[in-house]
Amino acid sequence: MVYKELGKTGKMIPAIGLGTWGIGGFETPDYSRDDEYVELLKKAIEMGYTHIDTAEYYGAGHTEELVGRAIKFFRREDLFIVSKVWPNHLRRDDLLRSLEATLRRLDTDYVDLYLIHWPNPEVPLEETLDAMAEGVRMGLIKHVGVSNFDRDLLEEAVHKSREPIVCDQVLYNIEDRGPERTGLLQYCQENGITLVAYSPLKRTKLSEEARKVLERVASKHGATIYQVMLAWLISKPAVVAIPKAGSLEHLRENLEALNLKLTEEELAELDELGKLS
Ligand SMILES: NC(=O)c1ccc[n+]([C@@H]2O[C@H](COP(=O)([O-])OP(=O)(O)OC[C@H]3O[C@@H](n4cnc5c(N)ncnc54)[C@H](OP(=O)(O)O)[C@@H]3O)[C@@H](O)[C@H]2O)c1
Repeated sequence: MVYKELGKTGKMIPAIGLGTWGIGGFETPDYSRDDEYVELLKKAIEMGYTHIDTAEYYGAGHTEELVGRAIKFFRREDLFIVSKVWPNHLRRDDLLRSLEATLRRLDTDYVDLYLIHWPNPEVPLEETLDAMAEGVRMGLIKHVGVSNFDRDLLEEAVHKSREPIVCDQVLYNIEDRGPERTGLLQYCQENGITLVAYSPLKRTKLSEEARKVLERVASKHGATIYQVMLAWLISKPAVVAIPKAGSLEHLRENLEALNLKLTEEELAELDELGKLS
């Protein structure tokens, strides 16, 4: 595994974490493959996926339950568990209730990182960040972060939060270059904030142009296009990625991206792809 520092905390986290959106349902719970998913999650952790990304929203809480069942088999301190509070729970009391419910479903005493899943302009940001800080004081949250915050809102959060904002989890992949265009990536890199790239494989829905370039680079290394996408992302300072994989084969393939060393020319060519989108 390759590790990167979480924000400026000194804590090292795996540069490739595991996304769980769809494991145990999307907007609603799906109980039909529970045992299979718990086994898959256990195998993933054994393989090195000790950084797991989930949310109260996923499967309406059921995803957290499945993660909770899988992590019981491991030492808690070896894991880095991330969850997120949904934007309709950003009032103080709601957030603390959501946090407790998340911990109950994960069957654990704390989350390593708790994120505001999406901003909600109807709730003062201070109130949410103060509630997060309360969660930290109670020992229920180790680190505080945000998700889907643009550059300006992230900066506002950094100034308003009593706890350091250690990450912003946003859409970022070879074709979705929002964080580069808006200056968010640069802000994170300059201020010691980890940018967690979600949908790093673009949910496999790539344009023909991107696919062509990726295939050419991949073939030179005997790699797959998804490994190239991940290697490109984690070559960037302060960036980690959380691909979701639903099979052992995909889990392995994505982890092996860590061994792929792209040349400066290849990285530059992949950077250029952003100009197409
Ligand atoms: N904060 C937010 O608002 C937010 C939003 C979206 C996502 N997220 C987080 O980010 C995670 C990842 O994003 P995502 O799930 O949207 O998309 P993604 O990771 O870009 O793509 C997942 C898709 O790629 C496929 N896949 C994985 N590895 C593959 C491989 N090696 N070869 C071919 N196909 C492969 C998966 O198929 P299989 O399942 O068949 O392996 C799945 O269909 C989510 O699970 C979630 O934890 C956060």
